[in-house]
Amino acid sequence: MSYYDRIASQWHEATGHCGGPFRRLVLNDVVLSAIPSIAGSCILELGAGNGYFLPLLLRRFEEEVPSRIVITDASTELLAVAEREFRVENGEYVRLDVRARYPFESGTFDLVLAIMVFNEVSTGGLRKALAECRQVLKDSGQLIAVVAHPDFVENLMQRGELRGNNKGQVTMPTTASLRVPVVRRTAAAYDVCLGAFGWEYEVEDIYPNRRVLRERPELKAAAGLPLARMFKCRKTPSQPKRDTRARSAGTRPQEHRVGAPAGKSSS
Ligand SMILES: C[S@@+](CC[C@H](N)C(=O)[O-])C[C@H]1O[C@@H](n2cnc3c(N)ncnc32)[C@H](O)[C@@H]1O
Repeated sequence: MSYYDRIASQWHEATGHCGGPFRRLVLNDVVLSAIPSIAGSCILELGAGNGYFLPLLLRRFEEEVPSRIVITDASTELLAVAEREFRVENGEYVRLDVRARYPFESGTFDLVLAIMVFNEVSTGGLRKALAECRQVLKDSGQLIAVVAHPDFVENLMQRGELRGNNKGQVTMPTTASLRVPVVRRTAAAYDVCLGAFGWEYEVEDIYPNRRVLRERPELKAAAGLPLARMFKCRKTPSQPKRDTRARSAGTRPQEHRVGAPAGKSSS
């Protein structure tokens, strides 16, 4: 039984139909704004949790009809919650570990979403996931991955907020006093993995705004750091390179900041 199998109902209760304060007030819109269209698209969501995001996506693009939607998670319990609470018509619900072989033909998907899941797997797991995502995406497809921001995780570490659990995982505090697994990984390490697997990408750092801090005052201790980093990735036309240090100019990240650190923002 996975960690999330055990906390599935608490997770659903705490995060509900919008994913909790940070997602509801900031992150969901940032991710939705990164998606140009879903008309005729094949969409795969990895680590979907309670499955709240796909219904938001369909509502945002209510005039458009995707051709296929696959909602996945490693937790059977959370997948059951997603199917029961946020069922998407004609959606396929599939148990899938992002580190394993994905059961889809090459070049199937136009859009792969991975929101706050890659920061929970080891670097070896992340490398496998990025290779699989590349495999199942169409050449014109897009991978949108959001991770807990490395600077935020490091700040939690420095403040003694990371803890080990009896499964050998490191966990960090999240909404409603829950803790979730997290892997400490530098921003440079994400860049190296993405560069090695043939992605070109832009990054956006995502900050909590004042309303988030009002609902989650404990985040004020992170002193204006971004909470998340979004990678908007496309396949480079060339084959993936194995030498991770020799990235071409085409795979260098472009940095954008989304919003302003709370305290400087007007929201
Ligand atoms: C922090 S939750 C995020 C859920 C959802 N994407 C959201 O943003 O609310 C992390 C999710 O990743 C899933 N997960 C963790 N490790 C995974 C793995 N190796 N393969 C697939 N899913 C995984 C968990 O079961 C959980 O649903």
